[in-house]
Amino acid sequence: MMLVFKTIPSLHKKIKSLKLKNKTIGFVPTMGALHEGHLSLIKKARQQNDIVILSIFVNPTQFAPHEDFEKYPRTLKEDKLLAEMCGVDLLFLPDTKIMYGSSPLTEVIVDPALTRTLCGKSRPTHFTGVATVVAKLLNIVTPDKMYLGQKDAQQAVVIKKMANDLNFDVKIITCPILREKDGLAMSSRNAYLNAKQRRESSLLYQSLKKARQKIKTGEKKSKKIIDFIRENILNHTHGKIDYIACVDADTLKEVKVLRGKVMVALAVKFGATRLIDNIIVNT
Ligand code: PAJ
Repeated sequence: MMLVFKTIPSLHKKIKSLKLKNKTIGFVPTMGALHEGHLSLIKKARQQNDIVILSIFVNPTQFAPHEDFEKYPRTLKEDKLLAEMCGVDLLFLPDTKIMYGSSPLTEVIVDPALTRTLCGKSRPTHFTGVATVVAKLLNIVTPDKMYLGQKDAQQAVVIKKMANDLNFDVKIITCPILREKDGLAMSSRNAYLNAKQRRESSLLYQSLKKARQKIKTGEKKSKKIIDFIRENILNHTHGKIDYIACVDADTLKEVKVLRGKVMVALAVKFGATRLIDNIIVNT
């Protein structure tokens, strides 16, 4: 039976008793509207730990005022059923007051080289919100392992840097991107797409795959790859490109010459809906 906790002291008490019994804890932080991508993290955590803790919290501090915090999908009833089916033991469901209280907040600011590039250019405050809430969640849950998705590749790099710099005693595991049949990366935000946008959105992954093929067969210039993807998207969709970039997968530094472990990443807006995707190529 899955237990639900809405307050921090009640969860602390439960976690203390589990630790006294030497139980290992796997933690999956989410904002809910659970889909197969989220469930894959829960299943991985289920395989590797005695206890699985899931958090659902739509974190206001990672949304800018003009972003979709208000209309972000909230599907708690379905989420609870899915979580229980996938073997979650403890569900942490705090509200904003419990996470943030009413006084100004101490924030976790991660290296701007990681937070101001890629998505950070159009979402300059986003990763401070993410790093802060994840630091708080790690202190609350004190897991042995935490599970993140490669879908949000920059987020995973930022969180790993934060956890390392602040000496959190947690192993962070990044899990592969789960996709719809036509290749679109699963995301809670896909629900915003209309039928036409949804059809066109599959082109993002199709172009990333073709780009990977080009790199694998010898293309070394990142500009060529970026131009190729841009042309593809502009010619076949109504998407508005936020960025397309080739970066070192670990440092997120832009690379001109494609060598080593390269991440090709993009963000494209379909109407008001901003989609991100990426692919890693080992050259
Ligand atoms: P959310 O968007 O709900 O995602 C929760 C976790 O699920 C993240 O680690 C994300 O990378 C992973 N995920 C999302 N889509 C995925 C997919 N298609 N395949 C595999 N994994 C996927 O990311 C957040 O919430 C928040 O920023 C959070 C870390 C919870 C902090 O508020």
